[in-house]
Amino acid sequence: MADPLHNEFPPDSLEAKDLEHLLHPTTNLKQHHETGPRVHARAKGVYLWDSQGKQYLEGMAGLWCTALGYGEEELARVAMEQMRELCYSQLFSGKTNEPSILLAEKLKSMAPMDAGRVFFGLSGSDANDTQVKLMWYYNNALGRPEKKKIISRQRGYHGVTVAAGSLTGLSPFHKNFDLPIAGILHTDCPHYYRGAQEGESESDFVDRIVGNLEALIEREGPETIAAFIAEPVMGAGGVIVPPAGYFRKVQALLTRHDILFIDDEVICGFGRTGRAFGAETFDLEPDTMSIAKAVSSAYLPLSAVLLPETMYEAFVQMSSELGNFGHGFTYSGHPVCAAVALRNLELMEERDLFTHAARVGAIMQERLALLADHALVGEVRGVGLIGGVELVADKSTGAPFPTAQGVGAYCMERCEEHGLILRAMGDTMALCPPLIISEDQIDELFVKFERALNETLNWVG
Ligand SMILES: Cc1ncc(COP(=O)(O)O)c(C=O)c1O
Repeated sequence: MADPLHNEFPPDSLEAKDLEHLLHPTTNLKQHHETGPRVHARAKGVYLWDSQGKQYLEGMAGLWCTALGYGEEELARVAMEQMRELCYSQLFSGKTNEPSILLAEKLKSMAPMDAGRVFFGLSGSDANDTQVKLMWYYNNALGRPEKKKIISRQRGYHGVTVAAGSLTGLSPFHKNFDLPIAGILHTDCPHYYRGAQEGESESDFVDRIVGNLEALIEREGPETIAAFIAEPVMGAGGVIVPPAGYFRKVQALLTRHDILFIDDEVICGFGRTGRAFGAETFDLEPDTMSIAKAVSSAYLPLSAVLLPETMYEAFVQMSSELGNFGHGFTYSGHPVCAAVALRNLELMEERDLFTHAARVGAIMQERLALLADHALVGEVRGVGLIGGVELVADKSTGAPFPTAQGVGAYCMERCEEHGLILRAMGDTMALCPPLIISEDQIDELFVKFERALNETLNWVG
């Protein structure tokens, strides 16, 4: 295709080849051809270097995933040893392997639910697709084939595959992909700052949106609804921390209507919110859980669905009638991924990383709170080592900038100029550093971010 910048890169450069060969995920494709790619070359700890040798402080843990930081030799060693010993095996038809068995045992012991079984996949999306299929299979097994709908939330993010993309409540992931599929319903996003009505208190806001959820359940008929899915803290939707009491009320409502709670811990799991799981931080009682990302600190892809033994018992019965439990991936229980994830979790434990993350997370939240006074900032929000800073055109009214102005994208560019990687989700700047970040590095992050914020303020005039 016509490529305005293509010729500026030497034809055999990685940049030119990127522009010629790749289809980039979740990218403004036209803009990519105008700005060109940035090639990541190497990384260690919380720092990353591009192909020009420029150093960046990693403020987003990659895509919310590199919890243990980059370049951990021990995980490289475990991967190499496992590759030499048994580079691949499957879990189909009763075959198994040691790393998958031990990892499943470990995950059950850590999970804040009565987990009976662990199903392995490779991504958050396939975990959530699996959740949807398991809910359908389960209710068929129980002889209630009408109980199939899943309720998700506007601005929730659960992935991009057909079912998970339907659960996601963000329009760019639906438009022209013909999503959502039938049977996926979306209810209110629990964002008080953006969602409250004039003069509404936070607790009235919670009562109203939980009331809307109840009305939806009654309208559809609780006998048609299998499950509700939620991230404890919404990540890609803009780092939305739910108001106090929200989950308690939602959970009570679901229990009353025999609707299961699918807890999507893909971002929140493994220390991100100050406890091991978001469910603990927000006092949730998951019926099933999806995990990915930090479970392997992204050294290799791995996801899992944790489910109660009662569901498993129904699957045993159903699969015996059908002759097979017909769900699984070639790489479910990949031994190298499982061995690396297991060692990653052990290292987290040996280094008491969740305690460290809770301690530095409190410092990060203090620094974030100070940004609330900045002229460009409408709201700061966060918990533990995850934060969001929403940039607004008018601080007093909270009026947003026009989307086309690209204020968040500009701020992200300024951060990168100063050697800091953050991510703009619209005009909300997300912070999600590796859990190993030190107090000094948090200071470095905020010094760079504040510089970028001030330059963005000058730019918007
Ligand atoms: C909460 C949540 N669920 C699911 C996913 C999808 O994970 P993946 O990109 O590995 O498919 C993500 C990805 O960011 C996520 O944040």
